[in-house]
Amino acid sequence: MTAATATTADTFRPALHYAARNTWLNDPNGLIFHDGVYHLYYQNNPLDNVWGNMSWGHATSPDLVSWTEHPVAIACDEQEDIFSGSIVFDRDNTSGFGTESAPPLVAVYTSAFKSGSAHAGLQAQSLASSCDGGYTWTKHNGNPVLNRGSAEFRDPKVIRYDGGAGSYWVMVAVEATDFQVVLYRSDDLKNWEFLSTFGPANATGGVWECPDLFPLPLDGDSEQLKWVLTVNLNPGGPNSGSAGQYFVGDFDGTTFTSATTVTEGLQDPARLGEYQWLDWGRDYYAAVSFSDAPNDRRLMIAWMNNWEYANQIPTSPWRSPMSLAREISLRTVDGRPRLIQKAAGDLSAPSSIGRPFTLERMEISDCTRVLDGAEGSVQRIDLTLTPGSAEEFGLIVRANGAHGTRIGIRPAQGTLHIDRRTSGRTDFHETFPSIDTAPIQPIGGSYQLTIYVDRCSVEIFSQDGQVTMTELIFPAPTNTDLAVYAIGGTAIINSLHVDQYV
Ligand code: FRU
Repeated sequence: MTAATATTADTFRPALHYAARNTWLNDPNGLIFHDGVYHLYYQNNPLDNVWGNMSWGHATSPDLVSWTEHPVAIACDEQEDIFSGSIVFDRDNTSGFGTESAPPLVAVYTSAFKSGSAHAGLQAQSLASSCDGGYTWTKHNGNPVLNRGSAEFRDPKVIRYDGGAGSYWVMVAVEATDFQVVLYRSDDLKNWEFLSTFGPANATGGVWECPDLFPLPLDGDSEQLKWVLTVNLNPGGPNSGSAGQYFVGDFDGTTFTSATTVTEGLQDPARLGEYQWLDWGRDYYAAVSFSDAPNDRRLMIAWMNNWEYANQIPTSPWRSPMSLAREISLRTVDGRPRLIQKAAGDLSAPSSIGRPFTLERMEISDCTRVLDGAEGSVQRIDLTLTPGSAEEFGLIVRANGAHGTRIGIRPAQGTLHIDRRTSGRTDFHETFPSIDTAPIQPIGGSYQLTIYVDRCSVEIFSQDGQVTMTELIFPAPTNTDLAVYAIGGTAIINSLHVDQYV
């Protein structure tokens, strides 16, 4: 690699998000908090920066913000690729892979069997265990432990169910091309008994992948425990390509029953906007939650990319970052249970970086105004906006004058959008330069946005975390302006606060 390409790569390397040092990654796998450390395993090509040789890479963090990369945790071989899955702490040593006094971590992953294997062409669930806190792993010699003879059975998420029906392990996985989540139970992680299926329901415009199932109190009331089933799908997202949807309902230990299903069976594409999405942007996929997060927090990380163009994004030598870790909760909004999301790690900006930029109240009218002193490429922006007569208003981040990534609101349409047509490099894939929208309604007459800008991404948490949008951008390193704009009339910036991180 020449010095010039190294410099280019560094301009996109995120400061607040995880990216592998010099390799490819996709889905987060095996997220677990154990012995005071957050473990992030992930789909990794240890040999290249495009998809292939699928193995589990590994990173750890004390705080969900600064990550240390470790050697590959579970490597592919001639028999199998190591596809997505999860990790549980087997504290009672139900699997027998550890001892009572030193219980193991157990990884449940999909073996994608290759031509060298007796199971060639199949996908089945397998185990590996670690007795050193997650740094080295041994594959179970009885793999696979759950084989349906299917070529599309993958992405097991295992949870501990402790409820009315008893106490046992539950696996949610997918039959991807049937648009179905399949549920199994086990006492020892090795023998699995079929419980039920869920789906097809709501969005079915692409294969179902990487499901998750977890309880959350509604409106903070532990008496009102609901179960959330998340399902990622590719393609078929609300703005094209990969995305994640969720259902809220009940789980009785056998069956998940959704209270938020809009359409059963195969989807009517016209109804995409009615479904519940984990994120409305183009780059938030394969989201899964941590096992054993402290204080009952439900923490999620997603892959910040989209299969439509994932292998072509212009970063090198690494390719694809993860999203920020998010804390999610469940709140009743307009009579419906809805996920509320916020950044989970401690993202307070270092005080050494200079004074934050603040603006109290400013009316803008049919203009674009660059904010002197607010420039940067790794920022947290907090603002509230009140509509006036403008048909559209918002911010331009990573800008050079009026060129940049537009984050806009169109009150009459009820939409929030990210317009990345002039965001920087867009030429690597024809569908990348897009305008992507999410539904948004004012609260008390105004709009609240918290935006993390991190060199190659924008992650928006709006209306107190009710609507999120996450997208990649590839601006020139010199495009650091922050501007506000209004089109066709007036808008009021009530307050705007910018923290700089680097
Ligand atoms: C989702 C996915 C999973 C699979 C993995 C392979 O992005 O397709 O279904 O396990 O990636 O890398």
